[in-house]
Amino acid sequence: MTAAPKLVCRNVWKVFGAGAAEFLAGNGNPSPDQLGAAGLVGAVRAVELEVRSGEIFVIMGLSGSGKSTLVRCLSRLVEPTAGEILFNGENLLAASETRMIEIRRHQMGMVFQNFALLPHLSVLANVAFPLEVQGIGRPEREARAARMIELVGLSGKETAFPRELSGGQQQRVGIARSLAVEPELWFLDEPFSALDPLIRREMQDEFVRLQSQLKKTIVFITHDFDEAIRVADRIAVMRDGAVVQAGTPEDIVLSPATPYVAEFTRNVPKAKVVRAASLMKPDGGAPSEPAIAERATIAEAAPLFAAGMTHLRVVDTSGRTVGRLDRDDVVDVMMRG
Ligand SMILES: Nc1ncnc2c1ncn2[C@@H]1O[C@H](COP(=O)(O)OP(=O)(O)O)[C@@H](O)[C@H]1O
Ligand SMILES: [Mg+2]
Repeated sequence: MTAAPKLVCRNVWKVFGAGAAEFLAGNGNPSPDQLGAAGLVGAVRAVELEVRSGEIFVIMGLSGSGKSTLVRCLSRLVEPTAGEILFNGENLLAASETRMIEIRRHQMGMVFQNFALLPHLSVLANVAFPLEVQGIGRPEREARAARMIELVGLSGKETAFPRELSGGQQQRVGIARSLAVEPELWFLDEPFSALDPLIRREMQDEFVRLQSQLKKTIVFITHDFDEAIRVADRIAVMRDGAVVQAGTPEDIVLSPATPYVAEFTRNVPKAKVVRAASLMKPDGGAPSEPAIAERATIAEAAPLFAAGMTHLRVVDTSGRTVGRLDRDDVVDVMMRG
């Protein structure tokens, strides 16, 4: 079920400081210390990534680990020092500036932490703005903007100005605006970090719901591991500019690659991360037996086992049996959590 990669990074570097490109060319794979000694900052180091069509790919790391620099490199808002970036197979580092502007305008969407709305424009005009930049006429752009506003749950606020909205509502406008161009590739850099915890939770849930309808290819940045596992199909963990581990939330929680990654996963209840599909055995069982969805977490399956079941049939979204989940395996994960 592996979809084609929409975006591929090969050995991508961003080194800040005078003479960065020459230093990198002459020193192969320099460590942060070597870069530091040369007065350089290795904001992104030797990053290899593959973002697949239709997935939410989360880049997680502490502040300063290089997340924003990396995501800006992906659209060349920051010029990478070295490496290769392929978007639908096209090498972006070989694209002209005109071509990049066209790609950013028509195929990419971006949402940042500080909402960056235009204060003197209404909600409708803010959301329609990128369509105006594309040269789309007023009736069509306003109709499309109104649909996006409805999608993010802000119907009725079309004529309001940004200052009249709460932080959460402003961020919804930012989301609607970036979706208005119907981007193929959607970048969100800490979109919910400025929001209060409760609103933030709500936005995470809504974001996952929105994605289940839109099926965009998404690169989502966060410094919050809980947020990462709530929204991610796959996660790349960054430290000092490098990706230290990439995998599904289950991979990362069950098998952290380094002590640094383990530190993030230590307090995560494993039962809330591990899904039926990753623990099931191949032989399914009779269609009459009780079933659980392959995307359901162990925590969701637990009550059925507590009620006396020794195993459950695992089904895909079309109801087809894909495997069997045994109580012993579930208990094992819960004990580890
Ligand atoms: N324009 C710049 N010039 C020099 N150093 C920079 C620049 N932008 C970012 N950095 C440095 O690169 C590193 C990564 O920063 P950033 O990508 O913003 O991290 P994050 O988004 O994970 O917080 C930090 O050490 C930061 O200070
Ligand atoms: Mg950042």
